[in-house]
Amino acid sequence: MIRDSHELLAYVNGELVPASQPAISALDSGFNFGDGVFEGLRVYEGRVFRLDDHIARLYASARAVDIDVGMTPMRFRDEILAWLRANQIIDQFHFRPIVTRGERWPPRVDPRFASGSPNIVFVGASIEPVAGDLRLVVSRVRRTPAESLDPNVKSLNYLNNIQARREAIFAGADDCLMLDDGGFVSEASASNVFLVRDRELLTPFTRSCLAGITRDTVMQLARGIGLRVTETDLTVADAKRADEIFLTGTAAEISPIAELDGLSVGNGDRPITDQLHSLYSALVRRQDHAIGLNAQPTN
Ligand SMILES: Cc1ncc(COP(=O)(O)O)c(C=O)c1O
Repeated sequence: MIRDSHELLAYVNGELVPASQPAISALDSGFNFGDGVFEGLRVYEGRVFRLDDHIARLYASARAVDIDVGMTPMRFRDEILAWLRANQIIDQFHFRPIVTRGERWPPRVDPRFASGSPNIVFVGASIEPVAGDLRLVVSRVRRTPAESLDPNVKSLNYLNNIQARREAIFAGADDCLMLDDGGFVSEASASNVFLVRDRELLTPFTRSCLAGITRDTVMQLARGIGLRVTETDLTVADAKRADEIFLTGTAAEISPIAELDGLSVGNGDRPITDQLHSLYSALVRRQDHAIGLNAQPTN
């Protein structure tokens, strides 16, 4: 269990360094401008869930903003697995591989000032399942429009989401529903959202939210048990009259929502959320959907 930052060795450009010690240049593009991309992954019982899919998404994010990761995805995977082994990570661990545009001199906006070699960092911490039902509010902070920052580029620009989460916390809630620029439900501050209505799952299109890997897993699981799953525009009123609401994400897993803007969700029963939650918990521990920490390096 890594509970304290002093217990973790971070990966910084191939070196293992105590996570709380300075190891990245003050000129780093991610630190100065949020100019970088990242992923969030989770280890269950000695295995990393959907590791290759997360790496593919990281490389797609990097490509979309013209950051060269500087190594093959296979090598990146081996670096992650070696780092997890070095930290003796086995279970209940959430981690973030981060790739920035590297050092920038002078430290100004023009990306041509970046050195061209990325800074690559892996950090993480122990994580427990989300405890209990969550209360949401509808945030006044809108999701950055896709034309300004595509939600499918998992960039280091999370100020939008953090402002929304702060607003929710000040309102006494746990998290929020963010709306897109058209006023439709987009996602929560760091997870996707699903409504259940008459045994059908409804979720926003990925033009306004991240195509979450948990979202995709849940859609597959739901279809596997014969539920209809529809991507559609959803209003706040749709959410308020849903039978069940849940969030999905690598950290959130499947988190049931008890309240939205002070209103109880449905009649309080949540058979579909519970069923999907148990299917998900079993799946993340299954060998065939995960990469073992004892996997051999590929090159
Ligand atoms: C804004 C946002 N939406 C959705 C998600 C869920 O994505 P995933 O299921 O791939 O973890 C995340 C996860 O970090 C997120 O930051």
